[in-house]
Amino acid sequence: MNTKKRAVSPVLTQEDEGLDFTLRPQSFKDYIGQSNIKKNISIIIDAAKKRKEPCIEHILFYGGSGLGKTTLSFLISKEMRSSMRTVAGPSIKRSGDLAAILTNLKKGDVLFIDEIHRMNSVCEEVIYPVMEDFKLNIVIGKGPMARTMDIKIPPFTLVGATTKLALLSSPFRSRFGATFRIDNYKTEEVEQIIARSAELLNIKVEKDALKRIASCSRFNPRVANRLLKRVRDFSQSKNKEVITEKDAKQALSFLDIDEIGLDSGDKKVLEVLIKSFNGGPAGITSIAMASGEEEETIAEIHEPYLMQIGFIKRTKQGRVVTEKGRKYLGV
Ligand SMILES: Nc1ncnc2c1ncn2[C@@H]1O[C@H](COP(=O)(O)OP(=O)(O)OP(=O)(O)O)[C@@H](O)[C@H]1O
Ligand SMILES: [Mg+2]
Repeated sequence: MNTKKRAVSPVLTQEDEGLDFTLRPQSFKDYIGQSNIKKNISIIIDAAKKRKEPCIEHILFYGGSGLGKTTLSFLISKEMRSSMRTVAGPSIKRSGDLAAILTNLKKGDVLFIDEIHRMNSVCEEVIYPVMEDFKLNIVIGKGPMARTMDIKIPPFTLVGATTKLALLSSPFRSRFGATFRIDNYKTEEVEQIIARSAELLNIKVEKDALKRIASCSRFNPRVANRLLKRVRDFSQSKNKEVITEKDAKQALSFLDIDEIGLDSGDKKVLEVLIKSFNGGPAGITSIAMASGEEEETIAEIHEPYLMQIGFIKRTKQGRVVTEKGRKYLGV
């Protein structure tokens, strides 16, 4: 099974697109958790408003999929009463692509570049003077006839999002006025998020059922919302009006998710480490080969969660199963 198909994968799927849109918080009040980031952004926005500036300093968000980077950018544009233009990093291949986007911006716009680490690095040189002085230098013509032209771009806020900060060059990173790391959520926060989602989707769920779904959601809002929807579908097929904890448990186990949120892929990784590698250390490539899972799936889905709950740890020599992990599998 690939990364996208797993119910517990945080990576955006087609199924999530509509759900993400419907459930996206419309104000900072609805944006649960990340209080430090919210506080800092509010200060930045307030200060810009007091100075009567049309935009704020450029902001970079980094953190795993589904943790709320796009949402934060959207909330910034709402708070600034401006429009958000969204561009996918991989679609910016040539300087001309970037110039076209920049020359179409209006004063105060938020330009959201998603997966900004995948923007072609030749475009970085073009974007630096724009980030610094809102000046676009373009070269017209070739050879001895070539000349440069400065085009003034209206002041705007660049918001970049990345899941892989290390892949962004340091000169690029340093041109953002503020960089925020979005962390995983606490289970109680995830519970609050899906309580709101249940209301919006008109789903009646008992508190204990919400708790159970939250505790299986890998501390991730997107996964939590997706599981809530799947549990709803399962319960509806059984004509249940109100979802109880028992229903949630049944639905989750039908989805191949156990009491603590592990799916068969997670267990396989643990088992392989214990049985084939005597508990480790083992490298990710060897684990992938022995378990039949893709390396990417292990790196993006299984390993982060198994590490967070303390079932495996990473050492210089490779991955090792902890005592807690062994106990859980009963080995
Ligand atoms: N703090 C939050 N409070 C409430 N809901 C949230 C929060 N963060 C995320 N969500 C929910 O999770 C969904 C996914 O969030 P979002 O699209 O912002 O993630 P992302 O970090 O941009 O993911 P990706 O890296 O895949 O682009 C949102 O539509 C929203 O419903
Ligand atoms: Mg996003």
